[in-house]
Amino acid sequence: MSRIVVVSNRVMELRRATQAGGVAVAIADLLKARPGLWFGWNGKVVEDGDTALSDVKVRKAAGQSALATLPLTAEEHRDYYLGYSNSVLWPVFHNRLDLAHFDAGFYPRYTGVNKRFAAALASLIQPDDIVWVHDYHLIPLAVELRRLGIENPIGFYLHIPVPPPQTFLAIPEYADLAQALAAYDLVGLQTEADVSNLIQVFKDSGQGRILQDGRVLAFDQRLSIHRFPVGIDARDFMGATPVRNLVQSPSDAQRIIGVDRLDYTKGLPQKLRAFGRFLEKYPAYLRKVVLTQIAPPTRESVEAYTDIRQTLEALSGKINGMFGELDWVPIHYIHRSAPRDRLRDIYRASRIGFFTPLRDGMNLVAKEYVAAQAPDDPGVPILSRFAGAAEQLVDAIIVNPYNVEEMADAIKQALEMDKAERIARYERLMSVIRTYDSAVWSASFLATLEAAAEERSTAR
Ligand code: UDP
Ligand code: G6P
Repeated sequence: MSRIVVVSNRVMELRRATQAGGVAVAIADLLKARPGLWFGWNGKVVEDGDTALSDVKVRKAAGQSALATLPLTAEEHRDYYLGYSNSVLWPVFHNRLDLAHFDAGFYPRYTGVNKRFAAALASLIQPDDIVWVHDYHLIPLAVELRRLGIENPIGFYLHIPVPPPQTFLAIPEYADLAQALAAYDLVGLQTEADVSNLIQVFKDSGQGRILQDGRVLAFDQRLSIHRFPVGIDARDFMGATPVRNLVQSPSDAQRIIGVDRLDYTKGLPQKLRAFGRFLEKYPAYLRKVVLTQIAPPTRESVEAYTDIRQTLEALSGKINGMFGELDWVPIHYIHRSAPRDRLRDIYRASRIGFFTPLRDGMNLVAKEYVAAQAPDDPGVPILSRFAGAAEQLVDAIIVNPYNVEEMADAIKQALEMDKAERIARYERLMSVIRTYDSAVWSASFLATLEAAAEERSTAR
């Protein structure tokens, strides 16, 4: 079997990958199933001219895999990571053109880092390797690798949503980005909506058409675009250790759990407002519920993130001040990350999982919440219709995250749902989560990539 070379901006120790967002978690699962090489940024920022810059460190990681990492310079970190990746691509792809910051200096460094990564990676690639690039930081990597003569299969997976074409075309460099995507053998996306948006982007930019075999012909390249929804490894997530019983909250209140990086895409102010509205509208529930919101810090030096922390602290303070009692605080707001096995115990102890992003590629935490439930007395997930997961988890209570009133009512509905319905929904949700797990995700992507690359080489 060919070796797999995984590339992503953020590379983590396989054991610690769990606290760094969905991509690192998905890649750690993938490398457990199929050991290989994981290449990317080591998380360090060094001075320009530092010898460490050209020095790729390769070391053995847990299992049979190896990690190959390199640092960024301060300018690269500012313009490639904080700038183009997280102030242009992240907001635009999440439909927030209003938060995008188009600075002409960002794009040259974005392509510059992709060039530097490609050069460092090319020397590590062996003839039979399959290369799998992850996420929006590294869209131009295939173009750069091909320029260096790399002929291996190269696939790309985008973990975040593809915006509607009108939004995509607002990016000044949209044509370069589309051309860069066309250099991959396969582009994998989370949902059907993402697939149709990307195909439409190729058509609307005047550069692409669909071939009879379903592939897209764009910029003289044939590429495959398919949906592979990211899954979790439910058995591994439940782990070897027994679920710990958490201390009951005061007055045996029912717990509602939310877990989101403190990102403006996650709909956190709307979620807190909905919880406040629920307490106001249904006062019989005062003292009977607690919302625990875990919201670890993320990308704090990006401008669009500066207000969200203050907004949330003010909102949770306001709601706690308005409804709290000496022995009952309605919102537990925690601005730190939690280890994933600890999350499992909190999910299990929560009657409701509350996941209401305004936009999200998938939302793995919703799947983890369901997987952690007790089969004979499961809790209920409330899920935003704008999370990729909503395409699969149709038996969650699906809500519009902009509609505070509807979310307040969904909390009541979930709390009052009888056990038979909770079990029936849980079983249907678990069957989807088990069928489309992380192993199926990576195996189906890799099989499709190998087939697509095979067609490319026979077509020559
Ligand atoms: N996570 C964690 N600790 C935290 C918060 C999140 O381990 O304090 C993990 C979580 O279990 C999940 C991932 O980080 O596997 C978050 O993925 P998701 O798709 O929900 O959101 P993303 O952060 O990728 O936008
Ligand atoms: C999302 C992105 C990932 C990213 C993660 C954490 O899941 O899709 O690419 O790694 O957030 O964000 P960070 O900027 O800290 O890597």
